[in-house]
Amino acid sequence: MIQLPVPRLLTSVTAVLLAYFVYVPLGDSAQGEINVYSSRHYDVDKRINDAFTSKTGIKVNVVSVNEAAQLIERMKAEGKRCPADVFMTVDVGNLQRAEDADLLQKLGSPLAKKEVPAGLRDDGDLWTAISFRARLLVYNKDKVKPNDLSTYEDLADPKWKGRLLSRSSNHVYNQSLAASLLAAHDAAFVERWIQGVAANLARKPQGGDTDQIRGVASGIGDVAIVNSYYVARLLGSKDEADRKVMEKVAIFFPNQNDRGTHVNVSGAAIAKYAKNVGDARRYIDFLLSREVQEMLSTENKEYPAVKGAPMASEVRAFGEKKFDRTSLGKIGGHTPAAVRLMDRAGWR
Ligand SMILES: [Fe+2]
Repeated sequence: MIQLPVPRLLTSVTAVLLAYFVYVPLGDSAQGEINVYSSRHYDVDKRINDAFTSKTGIKVNVVSVNEAAQLIERMKAEGKRCPADVFMTVDVGNLQRAEDADLLQKLGSPLAKKEVPAGLRDDGDLWTAISFRARLLVYNKDKVKPNDLSTYEDLADPKWKGRLLSRSSNHVYNQSLAASLLAAHDAAFVERWIQGVAANLARKPQGGDTDQIRGVASGIGDVAIVNSYYVARLLGSKDEADRKVMEKVAIFFPNQNDRGTHVNVSGAAIAKYAKNVGDARRYIDFLLSREVQEMLSTENKEYPAVKGAPMASEVRAFGEKKFDRTSLGKIGGHTPAAVRLMDRAGWR
């Protein structure tokens, strides 16, 4: 079993939050109800749950926590008394943490096996992606030519000194990106890469992915590493300021000439001690229905996990791209090592 470290900064607050959660228990799901523990932070999820209830009559009780690490700590503390039927989160690093803590049980969904490509499901059938997102580059059109860009590896080159923007390496999105490099290269190479990227940052990491895009538009940095759905959201925004931001920048999918652009997932799983396993599976199958796949893409601008499901126009406009199809389970296995390397290299 791989023990994944709780991300830095979280450790100090986890104990306090844990104490809080322990005293706000959710009862076991009754017949006709399911309990969903989720760290997804998107408005669309409420509408999806309402659609599930009106279709099936099954009530969805949600425990929503921003940080997956907190949710996992809570499930560990609750043990066999854990009332969760479904566990949902973003990023394979978090799914791997739940898997390593033995909090999940086999999905057993013929629909997931049929509809979700193998690279987007756990090899051991403990979770499935419901959607995915690409980690791409956004650059300032006045300062960077598309020919200047090529791969994630190239971002460690000194030519980018003082020009890169990224959120903190505390964030699982960057940890999984580094883990994907560990799946492709040896550890010494990846350590040099992390040091190179850290040395090229235009400022100390701060804010989320959208803040990095705004930073590129306003000239704080020239290139940002961000998730595709933040880009698509700004592209689809009706806000004049967002439109101005997107006029200044363009998008680049790295590594198109080798393994493809790194992707990550939003995932769902059945909790190990679920009381309503049948309804939990029915809920996850519903997440993979065309109806919900389309909602995830049109409303949250993610790529649908089910091949051929309808996509948001902004996502379709990215065009056909080559994605890194290294098994996400394999990438998840490299996450602890990636976190250690990032800690050591000072990409904070
Ligand atoms: Fe996000």
